[in-house]
Amino acid sequence: MFLVAAVFATFVALLTLVLLFMYWYMSLQELKGVNRKSVFITGCDTGFGNLLAKSLDRKGVRVFAGCLTEEGAAKLRSETSSRLLTVIVNISPSRHHTTGSLTIHLLWTGLWGVVNNAGVMPTFAPVEWTTMEEFEQVFNVNFFGTIAVTKAFLPLLRQSSGRLVNVCSVTSNCGYPGISSYVTSKSALKMFSVCLRRELLHSGVTVHTIEPGGFQTNITDHHRMAGMVKKAYKRSSPELQAVYGGHVCDYLLSGIKTARDYCSSKPQYVADAMTHALLSRMPKLRYLVGPDAHVFFRLLGYLPDRVVDYILGWPALHGTICSELEQE
Ligand SMILES: NC(=O)c1ccc[n+]([C@@H]2O[C@H](COP(=O)([O-])OP(=O)(O)OC[C@H]3O[C@@H](n4cnc5c(N)ncnc54)[C@H](OP(=O)(O)O)[C@@H]3O)[C@@H](O)[C@H]2O)c1
Repeated sequence: MFLVAAVFATFVALLTLVLLFMYWYMSLQELKGVNRKSVFITGCDTGFGNLLAKSLDRKGVRVFAGCLTEEGAAKLRSETSSRLLTVIVNISPSRHHTTGSLTIHLLWTGLWGVVNNAGVMPTFAPVEWTTMEEFEQVFNVNFFGTIAVTKAFLPLLRQSSGRLVNVCSVTSNCGYPGISSYVTSKSALKMFSVCLRRELLHSGVTVHTIEPGGFQTNITDHHRMAGMVKKAYKRSSPELQAVYGGHVCDYLLSGIKTARDYCSSKPQYVADAMTHALLSRMPKLRYLVGPDAHVFFRLLGYLPDRVVDYILGWPALHGTICSELEQE
């Protein structure tokens, strides 16, 4: 009896290993004919989108790179092949126009993938220092704009049984304080992606989320973030300055300095995860990217909420002026 159990357990273990190896091997394989595929990416002026556009272009993929500014578009064109086409696209619904010529072009070439990469984080401050306009601005780009792009291109993706890649954030899994507008917009986007993935289950279109940790790009630039804290502090009422000033303000500003060192300097990892989602024969549904995403944020998910509150929570409120602003 013991011998039968041992043989059975060995068989199951070996089968599991073989299946894992096959999965790993398949996930390294790229789809055939990537040079016949077209991909549309938003937010290619800088950061992850820019790196992805260049990586896909080098592989021979026909890239339609959505840029916010003509300067960004011209720079990208100068660094890539003539195959890559740039399109000026502001995804904010109030400004949104899915350039008719792009859609006509894509009808002709076909569309394999859409990467919803464009995103903004215009505030770093407590909820009470954040204006309603800032909440709206973040949601207009990160959530409503992304939905508008998705809806515009889904018919083309359905024709090719293609892939939709949405860039969320690891912070949306853990409620990071100070960037509530950003975190909530990315959480909404994450759940939107999961709902859509399930709605499209039998359509051939697959939906993938990229959930990066901290990476050094424009969005995490520490000078820009410090400026956001100070701006929000200065314009808030004396009562709210007194409630959140002092320790909280100092805490945010020193946190930004720490984050500067801990943010990964390898944003190409994120572009590589996006490439895998678009071109691998065995793409994953979720991509957690970066050491902090794999260790710190994953660990937080296993801890009780009260412990996480203690780790991420702010120091006690203190009614003094923020020491960094005292000299200004
Ligand atoms: N860096 C990180 O640590 C991190 C972590 C998690 C998630 N993310 C997400 O990753 C994505 C890419 O960010 P990134 O880190 O590469 O920062 P980034 O360099 O600032 O890239 C964001 C891009 O989106 C563009 N953009 C902004 N508003 C837009 C609009 N209304 N319409 C079209 N494009 C617009 C920006 O153009 P301009 O440069 O002209 O403003 C920029 O090219 C974002 O969705 C971000 O939330 C970043």
